[in-house]
Amino acid sequence: MISIQEDVIAGLLENPKRISSRWFYDEKGDKLFQDIMELPEYYLTRAEFSVLKMYAKDIFSYFTFDKPIQIVELGAGDGKKTRVLFNYLNAENKSFEYIPIDISLNALNRLENALKKEYPGMAIKSIQTDYFSALKKDELQSSKHKLVLFLGSNVGNLNEKDAIEFFKQLHQALKPGDGVLIGFDRTKNPETILAAYNDAAGVTRNFNLNLLTRLNRELGANFELKNWEHQPKYDIERKSALSFIRSTKEQSVTFEKASKTIHFNEGELIHTEISRKFDLEDIQNLASKTGFKLASNFDHSMPLYTDSLWLA
Ligand code: AVI
Repeated sequence: MISIQEDVIAGLLENPKRISSRWFYDEKGDKLFQDIMELPEYYLTRAEFSVLKMYAKDIFSYFTFDKPIQIVELGAGDGKKTRVLFNYLNAENKSFEYIPIDISLNALNRLENALKKEYPGMAIKSIQTDYFSALKKDELQSSKHKLVLFLGSNVGNLNEKDAIEFFKQLHQALKPGDGVLIGFDRTKNPETILAAYNDAAGVTRNFNLNLLTRLNRELGANFELKNWEHQPKYDIERKSALSFIRSTKEQSVTFEKASKTIHFNEGELIHTEISRKFDLEDIQNLASKTGFKLASNFDHSMPLYTDSLWLA
């Protein structure tokens, strides 16, 4: 796994400057993201929750349970939506083991402790790593029958090239009959999407700017928070919500631990996140290009959001 210092400095030396959204998730960032999921403007989580609730039975009808299946969740976070699936499986007496994978150790510890209390006896093994490194772990390489969950529109945070590469590698790691359930946020009215990344209460702003606080703490940087602002936009052509941090004045920032100083012009942007949106054709194309067979799309009425089940 690449280190935060190496990755951030390399991104800030690029033109245009960027910082990967994977670094949002320190302890404060995890908490802010949980708050985002409760925001009235952030429709994604509620939409996916109702899709999973409505279609749990149909989703699992693609799996035989002669042996316990392995549910591997990439970017598990607080596992709130996943509980809908656990409740269905428990009610049906279908046995499974759960392997949550996340970049945030805080989130994983909290999740594992909560699940052990809520579901005593649940077989759970958490792994802290990023999506690509996860594919190399023994648990992913095992011959057990698997359903990989990639929920929450996490796929949207990968650019097209990385998403294709990721699903190709995932396809190689899986056996025929294994499945992947992917949460896709659908293209829709741009104002609805932009509002989800620019909420009135300013929680997304704090989430984005918290990156700078993290860099000050962990890399010994000296970002002055008052000189930076949250700048979201929706790019219709790229079907993507893009988040930036904008320098409100000409300034330099020193990263003490890396012995590096970076110069920023007034108005210069640091690109911090891409949140891609998909139509049905994009979903089908991504499956076909990466070797998967699209088994079924489970849509939220509107359609705001689709959970797509692919088979290896
Ligand atoms: C985790 N990820 C899918 C969220 C998204 O919608 O891209 C992260 C987020 N960024 C701002 N708001 C939420």
